[in-house]
Amino acid sequence: MNKIHIPVLLREMLSLLSPKNGGIYVDATFGSGGYSKAILDSADCKIYAIDRDETVIEFYNKLSTEYQGKVELFIDKFSNMKNYLDIKDVDGIVFDLGVSSMQIDQGERGFSFMYNGPLDMRMDKFSHINASTFVNQLYEKEIANIIYDYSGERHSRRIARAIVSARQKKHINTTFELAEIIRSVVFRGKSKIDPATRTFQAIRIWVNDELGELEKGIKAAFELLNKGGRLIIISFHSLEDRIVKRFFQDSESIFPKKFSLLSKKVIKVSEQEVNENPRSRSAKLRAIERVL
Ligand SMILES: C[S@@+](CC[C@H](N)C(=O)[O-])C[C@H]1O[C@@H](n2cnc3c(N)ncnc32)[C@H](O)[C@@H]1O
Repeated sequence: MNKIHIPVLLREMLSLLSPKNGGIYVDATFGSGGYSKAILDSADCKIYAIDRDETVIEFYNKLSTEYQGKVELFIDKFSNMKNYLDIKDVDGIVFDLGVSSMQIDQGERGFSFMYNGPLDMRMDKFSHINASTFVNQLYEKEIANIIYDYSGERHSRRIARAIVSARQKKHINTTFELAEIIRSVVFRGKSKIDPATRTFQAIRIWVNDELGELEKGIKAAFELLNKGGRLIIISFHSLEDRIVKRFFQDSESIFPKKFSLLSKKVIKVSEQEVNENPRSRSAKLRAIERVL
């Protein structure tokens, strides 16, 4: 069995969601089910869980045996949730964005430059484009722009040039090859961060259309929420957080009576949580409630 993902900001998520008996909740990013389990432990409720990665089924099977009839899983993108969730009155929806530890730590999924693997990075197998498409097929300018736009990498042009020059000699096949190409043109200096970090993040966002997914997912969630229903979103980088913040602020002006922020300020991870789980470092939580 895969190693389990440590849920981030779990206590904060639960206290803002405040699950109630008889409630209906959507866990839009099931992963290894850490959030779903915590919600089911805190109230006698029903959960519709979603994940685009079919490998989460092993965790779902375990949870659904423990909580018979209380949890149902859909393998799909959360942007499609309105198509198959035949429900309207949802009391709470939770998004815990990005990738899970299981995905990062399986070298063969190609998410990490720490492990050698194929250039894949797809969260699901439905898509025909992957990290190899990005590296081996896009124009140099597209590569540079996407790396810059999705990660703020200052050396995006230099990296794009190096990728195109390397692929003219030989098809780029693995995460280690790509990481070496990036390191050959970006000097690490005293930074603790590997020069490949930002580029890998940008490619992952592009491959999975993560920002488009988030926008569509939030819109769907707004429509499904019951009066009094709550939407909690945990994001992991500034591009995601900016989208969440904008939607939450605009929702108040577009539907002045309908939604209200549950916390005016963004909620960040405590020092203790970062020490216990360094991967939680950049997490930010925002929450909103439908009031009318
Ligand atoms: C950070 S993990 C969630 C961990 C989960 N909260 C837990 O406690 O185990 C993110 C999960 O969301 C899934 N995911 C990311 N984007 C998605 C999308 N657009 N639609 C459906 N699932 C998505 C990923 O496949 C991954 O399993």
